[in-house]
Amino acid sequence: MPTNVADNLATLKPEYERLKNVHMRDMFRDDSGRFDKFSLQAGELFLDFSKNRIDEPAFAKLVDVAKAADVEALRDRMWAGEHINITEDRAVQHMALRYFGAEPIIIDGEDVSKDVAAVLAAMRTFAEAIRSGEINGSTGKKITDVVNIGIGGSDLGPAMVVRALSPYVSEVKAHFVSNVDGADIADALASLNPETTLFIVASKTFTTDETMTNANTAKTWLQNALGEAAVSDHFAALSTNLDACAAFGIKSDRIFGFWDWVGGRYSVWSAIGLPVMLAIGADNFEAFLRGAEEMDQHFLSAPIDQNMPFILALLGAWYRNIFDYSTHAVLPYDQRLGRFAAYLQQQDMESNGKQIQRSGEKVDWETGPIVWGEPGTNGQHAFYQLIHQGTGVIPVDFLVAANAHEDLPLHHEKLVANCFAQSEALMLGKNEAEVRTELQAAGKTETEIADLLPHKLFPGNRPSNTILYKKLDPKTLGSLIALYEHKVFVQGAIWNVNSYDQWGVELGKQLAKALLPKVTGEEDADSHDSSTQGLVKAFHALR
Ligand code: F6P
Repeated sequence: MPTNVADNLATLKPEYERLKNVHMRDMFRDDSGRFDKFSLQAGELFLDFSKNRIDEPAFAKLVDVAKAADVEALRDRMWAGEHINITEDRAVQHMALRYFGAEPIIIDGEDVSKDVAAVLAAMRTFAEAIRSGEINGSTGKKITDVVNIGIGGSDLGPAMVVRALSPYVSEVKAHFVSNVDGADIADALASLNPETTLFIVASKTFTTDETMTNANTAKTWLQNALGEAAVSDHFAALSTNLDACAAFGIKSDRIFGFWDWVGGRYSVWSAIGLPVMLAIGADNFEAFLRGAEEMDQHFLSAPIDQNMPFILALLGAWYRNIFDYSTHAVLPYDQRLGRFAAYLQQQDMESNGKQIQRSGEKVDWETGPIVWGEPGTNGQHAFYQLIHQGTGVIPVDFLVAANAHEDLPLHHEKLVANCFAQSEALMLGKNEAEVRTELQAAGKTETEIADLLPHKLFPGNRPSNTILYKKLDPKTLGSLIALYEHKVFVQGAIWNVNSYDQWGVELGKQLAKALLPKVTGEEDADSHDSSTQGLVKAFHALR
């Protein structure tokens, strides 16, 4: 039985008291082996976590927290196909989608590996036929563009991955439409030719309003250009709701299914990955899956103190629960990971943005942090001021490749130097003596020094992890995403929340449905609060 969460987290308090006034620059000065102690390799990924506010005893206590929470037991139950998503009574088995081993994957008494392999094979056949021009549009022209219509997990994963792997894109260009804001689909369609465009309607439920609205608009656009009969040649669907796909008019051999044990935000590995496969080809997609599998095997087998997802999760909990830091920044020094933070926002915040325990009781501790970020170096010229000198502390993950895809002299070296410099600056800071020396060297008078000095101080002691990899290729990206998925799992287990439901998104959907007739003017808004009534009135006045 896991220990009570609050008691478990409280075991970290004495470590915090011991370390709260210790500066990391002193820890580095006093221990030349710190980097070796607090870094590790897992498959494609190298993690330096030495710039964190821990020492060996504190790290050992963090590991104890995971042990006391029985995280490994929950992990094994997940892998065994148990219904750990208790509020939806479902298994959580996205790892099955990227498992190439020989063991059966049992869910509800059935080995699902054959079904997984069958869908993957069907995706491969279809994707390669589109890419080679074997399957064409209704007028015989080659498909050059695919438009994925989906939202949340049916958009963020594939959109992020296609962007991250743009050097591998060939034959087919992938576009992504998600927002119900008509601007999204209008802008996407503006540059497209219906004859050479394939729409993929991606929706686990096939009921999501934004997606169905966009899908119907796309259908009308295509019908208007090529006639009703052309629709079936220009649409495919990815869903667990196969009947609804057929009802929409999609041919059965273009419907790619998945299962209720794949959460939306964990679905990029499933049929939802079809736009990725179309863009980068089936072999690259398989390498992406294999990268995730490699991280899965590490997560399933490495001891906690050498387990990368566990380590990131425990450090996150250390800052969230003990230091009370409420946000976590993910800063890729990798331009093509421009949507990685947005992707992680759903993965992490929809999973662990919870206040009710698995038991149904309210939590009495903080849970998921706000996750955010932008690629470096752009962020440096925007919000890093606050990261270095703001009143709050923001733990950071830096992500960086050793090699670029481009051969452009010094670009990559400069990028890497900036990345490493930022983690160094956050850790070291700049103290009074250093600022004074600098100002004296710049010829400032004593009065000028006294005025400027406080503004130029950097507190330092600000934590960061650095994840370094050889190159952002499909396999590495697969590992990276799986790393964060498992980190989120471990944190959810420590906080005792169900990371696999998302009831918090429902209320807004319900109210939007109720408000639509008031916004269209079919009904009055009198039953609503005065602000909502006022907004509806003001909206009509502006029309
Ligand atoms: O509203 C949230 C959500 O349910 C996400 O969890 C999901 O990824 C997204 O909507 C899209 O759902 P669907 O794939 O069923 O259209």
